[in-house]
Amino acid sequence: MGLLRAGSGAFLLSFVLGSAAVGLATGKAPAAKDSVTANGYTRKWWKEAVVYQIYPRSFQDSNGDGIGDLKGITSRLDYIQKLGVNVIWLSPHYDSPNADNGYDIRDYRKVMAEFGTMDDFDALLKGVKQRHMRLVLDLVVNHSSDEHRWFVESRKAKDNPFRDYYIWKPGKADADGKQLPPNNWTSFFSGSAWKLDPETGEYYLHYFAEKQPDLNWENPKLRKEVYDLMKFWLDKGVDGFRMDVIPFISKDQGFPDLTASELPHPEFKYAMGPRLHEYLQEMNREVLSKYDVMTVGEAFGVTLEQTPSLVDERRKELDMVFNFSAVRLDQDNGKWRDWTLPELKAIYAEQDQKLDVHSWNTIFLSNHDNPRPVSSFGDDSEAFRVASAKLLATMLMTLKGTPFVYQGDELGMTNYPFKGIEDFNDIAVQNAWKELVPGKVPADVFLRNMSRTSRDNARTPMQWDGSAQGGFTTGSKPWLPVNPNYATINAKQETVDPDSVYHYYGRAIALRAKTPALVYGDFKDLDPPNPAIFAYTRTLGTASYLVVLNFSGKPAEFALPEGVKAGRLVLGNLPASEAKPAQAGGALQMQPWEARVYQQ
Ligand code: NOJ
Ligand code: CA
Repeated sequence: MGLLRAGSGAFLLSFVLGSAAVGLATGKAPAAKDSVTANGYTRKWWKEAVVYQIYPRSFQDSNGDGIGDLKGITSRLDYIQKLGVNVIWLSPHYDSPNADNGYDIRDYRKVMAEFGTMDDFDALLKGVKQRHMRLVLDLVVNHSSDEHRWFVESRKAKDNPFRDYYIWKPGKADADGKQLPPNNWTSFFSGSAWKLDPETGEYYLHYFAEKQPDLNWENPKLRKEVYDLMKFWLDKGVDGFRMDVIPFISKDQGFPDLTASELPHPEFKYAMGPRLHEYLQEMNREVLSKYDVMTVGEAFGVTLEQTPSLVDERRKELDMVFNFSAVRLDQDNGKWRDWTLPELKAIYAEQDQKLDVHSWNTIFLSNHDNPRPVSSFGDDSEAFRVASAKLLATMLMTLKGTPFVYQGDELGMTNYPFKGIEDFNDIAVQNAWKELVPGKVPADVFLRNMSRTSRDNARTPMQWDGSAQGGFTTGSKPWLPVNPNYATINAKQETVDPDSVYHYYGRAIALRAKTPALVYGDFKDLDPPNPAIFAYTRTLGTASYLVVLNFSGKPAEFALPEGVKAGRLVLGNLPASEAKPAQAGGALQMQPWEARVYQQ
């Protein structure tokens, strides 16, 4: 993963080569050794990059069938490039019957027909490279679709050569001789994680939908198949993988029942199985080490204490993982919960403390599985939507770790005004409704929680302009309704408005790209218990930046601690007139949802 050939985009390259690097600390151009480390970190292109996630179904439809597709994405590459991002992560684009919108793969080497053809994929990859960006694919290999050829074979007979590609077990009989699943493991999409298959009378394991049987990583043939399919895409020139629930691939072969206290959060038992490290090291040795790529694992069920064992660069497993503490702060198992700013700050502080220079972090507040950040962590009311979306952008681009931006967040897109169960598409919501309502949870309580926490909030189509269906499709029926606020929140008007959320994202991304201290600099929270203000410094040598964020709808004062000064304002989310008086008597007067970054 050589650094020099890795710079993606002109500004990154100048960062790598130019005096802006550790030269900032010395005031001189960096010495040769400085180009490989900064503040103790090994420099890597993916540490210095900003990633933009695309959920293809909802990004841009090019043929009027109401479903986003690859040609649609290619037609929007200039828009993405102008934001200044360096990497695109594409959610699954593979052939799939869509039980879970592509996270159930039928053929790992084929493009989903609804999304286009392999030629369309090649054109997309070429367009990404031409714009000096990189493309990272989703690797979904904890499970496949039940329509995958392997599973079609596997379920046929106990002695089928593909039987051991999946996890099959006989059931247990209760006292009355009734057939029960092998253990009490539950699926994340409701009910048992085991499904009885009539063909052979055995159960197969599925942590997610019944149509997503878990693959058996104990089988070396299966592992080889996975490594080969990874090479297939890497040889096309893709730049790495986001790995879906990768910590789940190794199962405890004792298949013990979950205890009552483990049942509410089975992810902590399913993750970090006994052979996980062995598999990841093998994958790294056999595949990843041969390419200049980045990997980011979805670390659902992984504690912060366990994280270095996956991402410490000396272990040669993964480059980074997604830790869920921040993004899930406002929910527990789909139930909305109030959160406080000190809780959020404590998460980032702890991440900073527990990950040393050998382990790199990710920074994100959303993805296709979570609600819109401006609705969860900001304030999506008319008064504060724009300011709070910009404040969140400021935080994402100034914390330590690679920032991930989910499509539409750069416009300040909001949650959807769901009314009834029929408004939801997500299999997780539909299954939970069947299991819980009305016996266990009243319908109105269920719907109120889901409207705040559901994954569908992130999946409504991109809002490109003020025309019908927000310019997402020329057809009359997008696969999921467009948020009715598309007339006021859309890319067309934001790209012409220099004060838009979109252009603010661009400025924040550009600032990070040219400021090594915001990438590698030390992080220090200046006032952890402050309930309204998140204020921190990022320091690299003599270069130091002060970030002050007012996470509230009320004005707030922030008294500058001893030795901290607010020097030159390099980024701010309010027009100067509103921001005044900026400083009075050693204190900053912050307007509601105001964000400022100062060079000290
Ligand atoms: C995590 C993915 O992000 C989510 O969308 C999916 O439903 C599950 N893994 C199962 O693949
Ligand atoms: Ca389409």
